[in-house]
Amino acid sequence: MAERSAETDADRRTGTTAATPAPEPTAPPRRSGAPLVGNTLTYVRQGIDFLDTLQEHGDVVSYRALGEEFVAVFDPDIVESVLVGRNDEFSKGDFETAFGELIAPDGVAFSEGETWRRQRQLLQSEFTPAQVQSYAETMVDETDALAADWRDGEVVELRETLSTFTLGVLTEALFDLDLDNERAGVVREATLALADIADPTTFALHSVLPSWLPSPSGRRYERAMDDLNELIERLVDERRDADDRDDLLSTLARAEYPDGERMAPNVVRDQLVTFLFAGHETTATSLTYACWLLAGHPDVRERLDAELERELGDSDPTFLDLPSLDVTEAIVNEAMRLYPPITILYREPHEALTLGGYRIPEDATLQLSAYGIHRDERWWSDPETFDPERWLADRDRPEYAYFPFGGGPRHCLGMRFAMTELQLALATLAQRVEFERVTESLDPTMSVTLDPGEVAVRVRKR
Ligand code: HEM
Repeated sequence: MAERSAETDADRRTGTTAATPAPEPTAPPRRSGAPLVGNTLTYVRQGIDFLDTLQEHGDVVSYRALGEEFVAVFDPDIVESVLVGRNDEFSKGDFETAFGELIAPDGVAFSEGETWRRQRQLLQSEFTPAQVQSYAETMVDETDALAADWRDGEVVELRETLSTFTLGVLTEALFDLDLDNERAGVVREATLALADIADPTTFALHSVLPSWLPSPSGRRYERAMDDLNELIERLVDERRDADDRDDLLSTLARAEYPDGERMAPNVVRDQLVTFLFAGHETTATSLTYACWLLAGHPDVRERLDAELERELGDSDPTFLDLPSLDVTEAIVNEAMRLYPPITILYREPHEALTLGGYRIPEDATLQLSAYGIHRDERWWSDPETFDPERWLADRDRPEYAYFPFGGGPRHCLGMRFAMTELQLALATLAQRVEFERVTESLDPTMSVTLDPGEVAVRVRKR
């Protein structure tokens, strides 16, 4: 997603720039809750459905839950304004930072200001089109190996299988590292333990109970992170001596900015954890949803097969084929529209301000709801239907009616990597297998990513 100049169309449409004399701001509509706990219990019990009901109150809705004052945003123009034009007026905020503290507080996803800028500059050299192109063959090879491993008629649980797969692609491509089962298991366990602790129920409990009170998920998480830290230390040590390599792990092991300043060891650790966590579960859930949706829509599958036959014949897809694989891309986009892995983006204003005519207090946590906006019938006809065709037709909708990778200066650093992997993996899998649904319906829950739960499919070799 392109970065933009300070004042955007969205700012002008929402009347949020200093240049436009705005009418007197009012408080946003409020969803009331129980005394003291606010909407915590409903939030915890209903998760994503609760957030859905907020939209009934308007495009900007305030409520209290989990000990926080939230303002949910369902207007694409306001989202654009917050992420792009007025990005400097916000930080990720306390709610997101509390989550970051659990994982990698000094990594690029949670740092702020000048520290963030320097980190981002250093790291984005690994994600240029040329770099991502150099990872493409690994992506296809790993997918080929995955499909080769499946027997005809085998029932496969996609979410778990694809998590291991995307972790393999990530470590191989970015770190030039073939993690053996034991090492991969350490990273997987840390991811699962995080999902456990970040479950809304547990998170809510943490906000009510004193933090020193040990919980089973808390202890599991601590153990998993100790093991992960040990693993990362070993990897960095192993790589530090190999100074002729230019992969991300080597860049971090050298721990040096272009001006010669050194990155502190805890920051190196945090960057690695950031990539391990941000880079594999997100892509795995997207691919899971895409494969499952495809399994339920033979008409879409036919269009995909025709495209792959026409554009690739018997050859494997390459990076250079991607611009001609429109249906493949449309399927990936449509899967992420219906099931954005990151359902909500969080921001907190540095000081009280006005957004879309509403007064937003300084301590409020903005929730930019990708899930809600992606299913809003003002921008998407028949929004609950999986219809990749909509991406192939002319479209006229606000740019931020779709923002699975965020936007503005802090948009997903791995977006190009993820889109390349998703399209290449989907095309490679489709050339080799068909899926039949065993799990007939999904009931996703909000965790670190939008968790589909168990997704079983039967594999038919082609
Ligand atoms: C389908 C897959 C993915 C999705 C949907 C996704 C989504 C996102 C979103 C929404 C953000 C912005 C969060 C915010 O503004 O608050 C983000 C940031 C980030 N993502 Fe991704 N991501 C994906 C894959 C990846 C991959 C593969 C990598 C790395 C290899 C990655 C690395 C990052 C990093 C480092 C950031 C923080 C950027 C910054 O703050 O400057 N992501 N991602």
